[in-house]
Amino acid sequence: MALDPGTDALARLAEERVDHRFKGLPPDADGLSVGELAAQRRNLFTGGFSAPVLALSAERLDHNLRLMETYASRHGLAFAPHGKTSMAPRLFRRQIEHGAWGITLAVPHQVRVARAYGVQRVFLANELVDAAALRWIAAELAADPSFSFVCYVDSVRGVELMDAALRGAARPLDVVVELAAGEGARTGVRTEAECAAVADAVAAAPSLRLVGVAGYEGEVPGADPERVHAWLRRLVALAVDFDKAGRFAGVTEIVVSAGGSAWFDAVADAFAGIPELSAPVLKLLRSGAYVSHDDGHYRKITPFNRVPEEGALEPAFRLWAQVVSRPSAEQAFVNAGKRDAAYDLDLPFAQVVRRDGVERAAAGIEVTALSDQHAWLRTEPDADLEVGDWVGLGLSHPCTSFDKWQLIPLAEADGTVVDYIRTFF
Ligand SMILES: Cc1ncc(COP(=O)(O)O)c(C=O)c1O
Repeated sequence: MALDPGTDALARLAEERVDHRFKGLPPDADGLSVGELAAQRRNLFTGGFSAPVLALSAERLDHNLRLMETYASRHGLAFAPHGKTSMAPRLFRRQIEHGAWGITLAVPHQVRVARAYGVQRVFLANELVDAAALRWIAAELAADPSFSFVCYVDSVRGVELMDAALRGAARPLDVVVELAAGEGARTGVRTEAECAAVADAVAAAPSLRLVGVAGYEGEVPGADPERVHAWLRRLVALAVDFDKAGRFAGVTEIVVSAGGSAWFDAVADAFAGIPELSAPVLKLLRSGAYVSHDDGHYRKITPFNRVPEEGALEPAFRLWAQVVSRPSAEQAFVNAGKRDAAYDLDLPFAQVVRRDGVERAAAGIEVTALSDQHAWLRTEPDADLEVGDWVGLGLSHPCTSFDKWQLIPLAEADGTVVDYIRTFF
């Protein structure tokens, strides 16, 4: 039986050749296909990989996928994980296998990647007013009746540009009005009155169909539980008001969407309070960073710190770098820098040191700065660190970790690399 084009494309990822394009992979694997290299089940530490190399933990990734699947279903939420975090079609597929309704994305290029690998439902959590991209989406919708696509609108001008670009399209494009997360927040309509004006513009645009409301509580200025809850109540009230006003007449499902990885507990609370509307409500959560979680920013802000009885995400990345210089008793340099590690929210954290196959805690070792290709380590007098040692670094911010690596070894706890995750940024 023929594979569907998305499954076929995913299978073809295993046929890609391993070569100089992919950092950290064994030089002697050059010319093997990704599938052949995976079948060799090489060890990350003894199989010829060279530092710096970013590894994703197979077990922790599984755990995070399962935990958010359980969380969403326990709270009656549909889940469209934000795909911009990983931009990895294999992970999109696994998220969908773990119950995700579809994938959230931010810009047209990301939709093209998702479509190339068979994603059938895309929630574009952003405005889209580019005519070429809109015409491409319209063509995808026309060619594939099972493709569903929703994006934001937040201005009358944007609605007019969209309608002009889409004139004559076979299917109307589904849109949701984005409610800004407050004054001074990012995109989104600032007031309910302006939301109504944008919704009026959609109603007047034959190529568009209003299916709901959405926003991003992660951008609430000075976000704290009270402010986030207050904004979520506004979002829910907007959905209710729009519904009462008959703005969703004829839709089979009303979309209400919010939620990253910092406040999904608040989103679950607020969405549990959505009353019955004129059509079933798709309560769509969009967390993305949860998939790898991290050792910094998200470790501190995860909602599971507030609701530990619901579980805990596990940081799944470790960046391995090698000590290449130890110029003084207080300083050491490893060969991973800004090219390799996220540094927009926090510096990496030295976690473990490996020497001669033995791993121990990185006691007395701290990353103090990053150059392009080096991390600066400050070492306490009792820190045992030598040139040649490998240092395992924890990272902060999944999105800017994934985007520095195009083929990421998926390693089990004992170092066996069982697969490789291709990203497309
Ligand atoms: C609009 C929107 N939705 C969802 C998310 C996902 O949030 P997180 O990265 O915390 O998982 C983001 C992240 O930036 C976002 O901008």
